[in-house]
Parts: sequence; C-alpha cells; structure tokens
Amino acid sequence: MNWHMFLTPYKQAVDELKVKLKGIREQYQKTSKHTPIEFVTGRVKPVSSILNKAERKGIPLDHLDENMQDVAGVRIVTQFVEDIETVVSLIRRRKDFEIVTERDYIEEKKPSGYRSYHIVLRYPVQTIEGEKKVLVELQVRTLSMNFWATIEHSLRYKYSGEIPDDINMRLQRASEAAFWLDEEMSIIRDEVREAQRIISAKQEQNRR
Ligand code: GTP
Ligand code: MG
Repeated sequence: MNWHMFLTPYKQAVDELKVKLKGIREQYQKTSKHTPIEFVTGRVKPVSSILNKAERKGIPLDHLDENMQDVAGVRIVTQFVEDIETVVSLIRRRKDFEIVTERDYIEEKKPSGYRSYHIVLRYPVQTIEGEKKVLVELQVRTLSMNFWATIEHSLRYKYSGEIPDDINMRLQRASEAAFWLDEEMSIIRDEVREAQRIISAKQEQNRR
C-alpha cells in the first residue's frame, strides 16, 4: 500500500476546506457581525490510527476510501450552541461538495457524554489524474464541547479505551457541566443581543 499516494488527496481536501472555512470567519469579521466560527482545525488520520481502526472495524484496506469516513477530518469550533445551526446551514447551502450524512450528537449525546454535530462530505479534489472525490468528516461543536471531547479523548487514549469507573463518573459529570456552561452562555448571549437592541433603539429615538 502506497500511503503517501493514498493520503495526498485527503491532505489536499483538508487544506482546501480549512482555507474556505477560515474565509467565512474573515468575512464575518469584516462585517463586524458575530462570527459563528471561532476556529477551524483539520488533520489527516495518522497511518497507525487508520490501521488500528480498519482492524477494529474489519474494513479491508482496499475499501478505506468508502468505509472509513474520517481519514480526512475538519473541525469547526463555535462559541455558542446557536452558532452550530448557523454553520450547518452555511455548509448545506454550499455547492462545492456533497453531503453524505449528518449525525446529530447534540440533540442526542452519545453514552460517553460526547456532544458534537457531524457532517460527512464527499469533496472533489483536482489531481493530476483528474478529479478524485474523497470523504471528509466535519465536526461542528462549541468550545465547551470541544474542551470535554479533547480531555475525554486523551483519557481514552491513556487507558486504551478502558477508562476506570471513577474517572468515567467524573467525565459524565464534566459532560453535564459542559452542557450547563453552553446553556448559561446562550442565555448571556441573548441578554447581550437584547441590550444592543435597546441601545440602538434609544439612539434612534434621540436622533428624532
Ligand atoms: P468512530 O467512532 O471514529 O470509530 O466512527 P463512527 O462510525 O462510530 O462515527 P462517530 O460519529 O461515532 O465518530 C466519529 C468521530 O467522532 C470519532 O472519530 C471521534 O473523533 C468523535 N467521537 C465520537 N464519539 C466520541 C467520544 O465518545 N469521545 C470523543 N472524545 N470523541 C468521539
Ligand atoms: Mg464512534
């Protein structure tokens, strides 16, 4: 298996999507509107992780392109839960890729406590041999969800997936705390908007 050849279009897809999504962020900043995108990251799955997962899930190596959806991964992190909907609508409107599936782990979190919105894209990359479409997993989540998922992922790695019960209990509680943090921040966000609306209405009144 020539991994370099196989992974090149995935790397291209991740790089292009990062530029495009960061472009959205910059456009929002120029219009001084609240940007629904706090930051964007992306990675190509390391070969060792691809091999592990293929083994675990029984995916033959010649079927990776169709059966492993996260060889290319892009993550969009937002401040507020509401921003996730905005980002998802922006993604759905685009014409430069197709959406393959969407998974909503926010409406229904995973048993681990994981929350995130996943969209799998089929993204066309232009190669010297013509167009090649690759799958890309897009994860959209808040800073709070991202904090939790990052910590949980490290612990899962440390304990090779077998997280001890007491730590698991802490993670469940941390997941609930992350949920409440998002809830509280949403309420504050509405307050700020309301305040801005009142201020601009007053200014309008004074001008008359
Ligand atoms: P894998 O979970 O990757 O084997 O694929 P899947 O087909 O089950 O898809 P799923 O949507 O469940 O997960 C895709 C990706 O979401 C994973 O590769 C992780 O990056 C992330 N993810 C899913 N569940 C969890 C979780 O419980 N904790 C953390 N930290 N990340 C998760
Ligand atoms: Mg999974």
